[in-house]
Amino acid sequence: MSLETPVTTREKVRVFVTGSCDGLAELREALGRHSEVEMVGWSDGVNESAATLTGGHLQVVLHGTRSSGLPEDELASIREHTQSPVILLASGEASALLEQALEADVSDVLLLPQMTENVVFAIRKASRTGQRPAGKPAKRGRVVTVFSPKGGTGKTVISTNLAAAFTKTEGKRTLLLDLDLQFGDAAIMLGLEPEKTIYDLVVAPGELDSEKLAGYTTRHPSGLDILPAPVRPEDAELVTETKLSRLLEVARESYDVIVVDTSPFFHGPMLATLDRTDELLLVCGLDVPTLKNVRLALQTLELLAFPQNRIRVVLNRANSKVGMKRSEVEGALEVKVRFEVPSDRAVPIAVNRGNPAVLAEAGADFSKAIREMAKGLQPAEVAKGQKRGLFKRS
Ligand SMILES: Nc1ncnc2c1ncn2[C@@H]1O[C@H](COP(=O)(O)OP(=O)(O)OP(=O)(O)O)[C@@H](O)[C@H]1O
Ligand SMILES: [Mg+2]
Repeated sequence: MSLETPVTTREKVRVFVTGSCDGLAELREALGRHSEVEMVGWSDGVNESAATLTGGHLQVVLHGTRSSGLPEDELASIREHTQSPVILLASGEASALLEQALEADVSDVLLLPQMTENVVFAIRKASRTGQRPAGKPAKRGRVVTVFSPKGGTGKTVISTNLAAAFTKTEGKRTLLLDLDLQFGDAAIMLGLEPEKTIYDLVVAPGELDSEKLAGYTTRHPSGLDILPAPVRPEDAELVTETKLSRLLEVARESYDVIVVDTSPFFHGPMLATLDRTDELLLVCGLDVPTLKNVRLALQTLELLAFPQNRIRVVLNRANSKVGMKRSEVEGALEVKVRFEVPSDRAVPIAVNRGNPAVLAEAGADFSKAIREMAKGLQPAEVAKGQKRGLFKRS
């Protein structure tokens, strides 16, 4: 018996189609049936689908154009929402378009009609360059976003402690990003009084790079870095979607993990974050209003085309005796709870002392649950890598 590399089914590429040109409707249908493509959605106008373009985890955008030259305005509106690679589709001659596209920010130009397999090849190729810009190392930190559509469910407690656990027990270079832009309190929960915030970073002149980012983060004694929310709520609006996209791209180069604390809203910067989120912790509690809102949030995430396999429901205060059980939560949400976090007296005490429970009270049940969570959120590659070791290739 030979131990050959197991046949792997290819992961589907998430594609969105915009614009119009002859043959586009037929191509869209053919791609919709293709096993290597996940058709996330389509729309004629770019702005009609702004939310999906921004938050939909797209790997490639196909854009049909009737312009005989390069459709600069159309491309610019796509770029307002996503940095995903764009393949232009046109019909007819379009020779001026081909010439101008050489210099433009597009991955490919295809003149329709085309064999579906040719288009799928171009899509796969574009999705690869999108993952790894030429000349850049493959290293990419993971983004773990902690969200709940309801206030006070424990987002900040969980994100601060999780970030501390990633740093201390998992030995990861970790950044905690406070995206509760108006009333963020992650720094306070860590007992820090930072001199600089995300606001100072985004208004500072010049391109953002890793070095510049390092100048604006504050280090917690545990080794965890934090980029706090603006001090004044009115400064939040300067932290735009575009700034946040760039910030996360840069942070991924410097850190192993970026934990994002959030507010209960799907605002622009949040959509940009969702687009780069590897794991979304959706915090739920054992109460009917929270459950109702979490259900609505799941529907919104579906509308935004956020991949469902990246959602992890976290049941906070799971041990509270309040007449509702985990199974009822799972039944109402139609999603399994992935992590349970108990209600623990150590938490409010730690919050008031400004020292995360996972560091101050390592033996508390809450701290154990958070460490389990940090361990459970390790990249799948680790598991795959270990498995691969079983099948030594000659
Ligand atoms: N597992 C827990 N055990 C005990 N207390 C908890 C637990 N989780 C949260 N709390 C308490 O609930 C309070 C609110 O939690 P937290 O600030 O993390 O919520 P939030 O979702 O970030 O709220 P907001 O939407 O206002 O930012 C905290 O001060 C904390 O003391
Ligand atoms: Mg909070």
